[in-house]
Amino acid sequence: MTQHDTTFPEHFLWGTATSAYQIEGSPLADGAGPSIWERFVHTPGLTIGGDTGDVACDHYRRWREDVRMMADLGLRAYRFSVAWARVLPEGRGTVNTKGLDFYSRLVDELLAHGITPLTTLFHWDLPAALDDRGGWLNPDIAHWFADYADVMFKALDGRVRHWATLNEPWVVTDGGYLHGALAPGHRSLYEAPIATHHLLRAHGAAVQRYRSVGKHQIGLVVNLEPKYAASDSAADQAATRRAHAYMNGQYLDPVFLGRYPDEMREIFGAAWPEWPAADYELIKQKLDFIGFNYYTRSVTRDAPEAWPVRAGRVLQPQATYTETSWEVFPQGLTDTLAWIRERYANPPVYITENGAAFYDPPVAENGRVADALRVDYLRKHIGAMHKAIAAGSDVRGYMAWSLMDNFEWSLGFAKRFGLVHINYATQQRTPKDSARYYSRVVASNGAALHEDP
Ligand code: BGC
Repeated sequence: MTQHDTTFPEHFLWGTATSAYQIEGSPLADGAGPSIWERFVHTPGLTIGGDTGDVACDHYRRWREDVRMMADLGLRAYRFSVAWARVLPEGRGTVNTKGLDFYSRLVDELLAHGITPLTTLFHWDLPAALDDRGGWLNPDIAHWFADYADVMFKALDGRVRHWATLNEPWVVTDGGYLHGALAPGHRSLYEAPIATHHLLRAHGAAVQRYRSVGKHQIGLVVNLEPKYAASDSAADQAATRRAHAYMNGQYLDPVFLGRYPDEMREIFGAAWPEWPAADYELIKQKLDFIGFNYYTRSVTRDAPEAWPVRAGRVLQPQATYTETSWEVFPQGLTDTLAWIRERYANPPVYITENGAAFYDPPVAENGRVADALRVDYLRKHIGAMHKAIAAGSDVRGYMAWSLMDNFEWSLGFAKRFGLVHINYATQQRTPKDSARYYSRVVASNGAALHEDP
């Protein structure tokens, strides 16, 4: 691979990603149980504009059309998540066959179009019935999750060859249990470390189960954000170390090294519990890959007021920011892949999400959506990933976030991350320039990276 050669390894998996609650709509159809997101969005004041996932992209009814659209774009892979409460309305116990069938048919349709499915078992929509029993705070959740995973493995492992246990456990605890911006909306210094630990135990228990019933690959999806110190001052350096441990080491260190970073105690103080050694054995299961979601970096400064990590972000006057106020920083993807390679002995990695919300121009009369900023974002990030592969990282696939505009959690529908535009009034799907561009990158296995859309 020369500097100008942007082709990727043979069999590199190119696709897009979504998650159940963000696109499906019809959350209670066909016997599904409510999830914590169903409750969260129907509590007034918790999402922007009072937006809900009641309809979203109506994918629960338009899935065939969506698969055809992916095939028309030449996409080779699709990462989606399963809504736990569709399959097990109570979170455990009796299987709702209709819910399970939805995913089974989706997988068949993907395979019939030559699209490789990557299935995530948990992308934040915890069954409400389990939340009533404490959710991620209840130690029993490890086997509730493993039992649910078992149902999915047995139903789909013949056809699904890439499984992920959890999507972004960091966001689940930071947003759901520490700061409360996401479901279940708790704000507790004491709960967050407990939720972290049981998420990891649940992950371990599901991987363990997979080894006895599954035949293919399983991994964990984490969001990583490199931290660069704003200055050489001891305070900024220490804040950077804490922020890095909190966001990047908190989940991968236990999984690969069998322990939490030392900084966790510094961050949580008396709220950081001790756990039995056997837990770490459960958590440290051998994985087949790491799913890495990359969006941005942080230039970090000491910020005593920002509990509990006491780290803040310094805005970069020369940089481009997305609509979610994230700095566009492709080099961070290369740097973080280097960090994974060095710290965790170069595991196989899939980029399971990467993308940006920008203000998109409206759909033009000729049907075009000229989202030049997103094209530029994709080009630079795919290039940054290519650089890491050239340096030795074992990256095996890339899933752009997201296939289509969708429900951006507490930010509702205002933020658009899609390669395909959604008109929420008509459910009309319109591929943006970025979709056309990505389609050519995929068809050329990266060679067309620098061509104009
Ligand atoms: C999540 C997605 C989300 C995206 C953009 C990731 O943290 O996995 O569900 O839509 O980021 O915010």
